[in-house]
Amino acid sequence: MTLTARSKASSRVGILRNDATLGKVTGSAWPVSVPANKGKSMDTTDLVLAIVHHLLVFSLAGIIGAEFVLIRGNLAAATLKRLAGIDRHYGIIAALIIIVGIGRVFYGLKGWEFYVYNWVFWAKMAAFGIVGLLSIIPTVRFISWNRQAGANPSFLVPAAELASVKTYIRAEAFIFLLIPVFAAAMARGYGY
Ligand code: HEM
Repeated sequence: MTLTARSKASSRVGILRNDATLGKVTGSAWPVSVPANKGKSMDTTDLVLAIVHHLLVFSLAGIIGAEFVLIRGNLAAATLKRLAGIDRHYGIIAALIIIVGIGRVFYGLKGWEFYVYNWVFWAKMAAFGIVGLLSIIPTVRFISWNRQAGANPSFLVPAAELASVKTYIRAEAFIFLLIPVFAAAMARGYGY
């Protein structure tokens, strides 16, 4: 790494080093000014939001992964019930991610301007929105299949519906993988 490249890179991670290793904001290498009076409680808020954000995000990844696997197996009534049950949590976790994510934007250490003027942040939001849209058809199908299996023990999931749900979930999982890629770049100042 050349000297210029290294100083550019270290200026990108400047705030992270200030915050994480020194435990306080001593000034910022970011174009956005970080109030110097943001003290201990601010660090704690940021930390708690980051922890909850990560836990929720991993839960959502788990839900998408579980649906991805379950939909490939034998779709007996019990599996359809489980799929519908898992999918119910999807909406709750996604809503909590939005709330905590917005919390990170406004109460995080970098200040909202860091994100609002960052195209990588908006790419991440777009990816999250697309994942949400792609999840609508599978949700509708899971509810319908579960209801039909409850009413008729010999119910078989129609092959065409199953194929389309598999495609939606595959697309969802693929776009979801882009979100942490955008998140990591955004957190390091790319796109600002
Ligand atoms: C409305 C939805 C969301 C909002 C508003 C949001 C917002 C944020 C914010 C403000 C940060 C802090 C970045 C920084 O340190 O500067 C962050 C980090 C992160 N977000 Fe999200 N997020 C959302 C959804 C998601 C989703 C669905 C994922 C799924 C993978 C995700 C994954 C991450 C990861 C992995 C980080 C840590 C990045 C790093 O420090 O390297 N976020 N998010």
